[in-house]
Amino acid sequence: MEKVKLINLPKIKDPRGNLSFFENSNHLPFEIKRTYWIYDVPGGEYRGGHAFKESHEFIVALSGSFDVVLHDGRQEIKYSLNRSYTGLYVPNLIWRRLENFSTNSLALIVSNIGYNEKDYIRGFDEFKKIKEDVEK
Ligand code: TYD
Repeated sequence: MEKVKLINLPKIKDPRGNLSFFENSNHLPFEIKRTYWIYDVPGGEYRGGHAFKESHEFIVALSGSFDVVLHDGRQEIKYSLNRSYTGLYVPNLIWRRLENFSTNSLALIVSNIGYNEKDYIRGFDEFKKIKEDVEK
């Protein structure tokens, strides 16, 4: 879990409205290959519920709030994201579940690889086994 971290992004305060941004290399520990977003999440629903073999992600609550529950095979930790200038870096081989979405929340996610179903680990037991094997 030690590689997981919250990253504060620049916030350019302005009476006309604030502005934040991130750039490849300068703010994230990987190069961005893909961007997607999750929105219109009905109350009580969750997203994720898997880990990635190779994909690293950076998750920002651009609007509203939600929780990111992470598991590294040993321990669980919950991050509540609710600021558009703070994101969560989640490296590969970390189980994640996004839940507790507020009304109209918008989750922006960038990844270091293109979409590839083969990169998903969708079973928690399989995930734990892979973690045990890489830590041997
Ligand atoms: P999935 O990653 O399982 O959703 P969640 O964010 O809840 O973990 O993706 C749901 C579906 O969306 C999946 O079957 C394929 C599609 N999808 C893409 O085509 N491209 C993408 O970049 C992503 C993230 C998903």
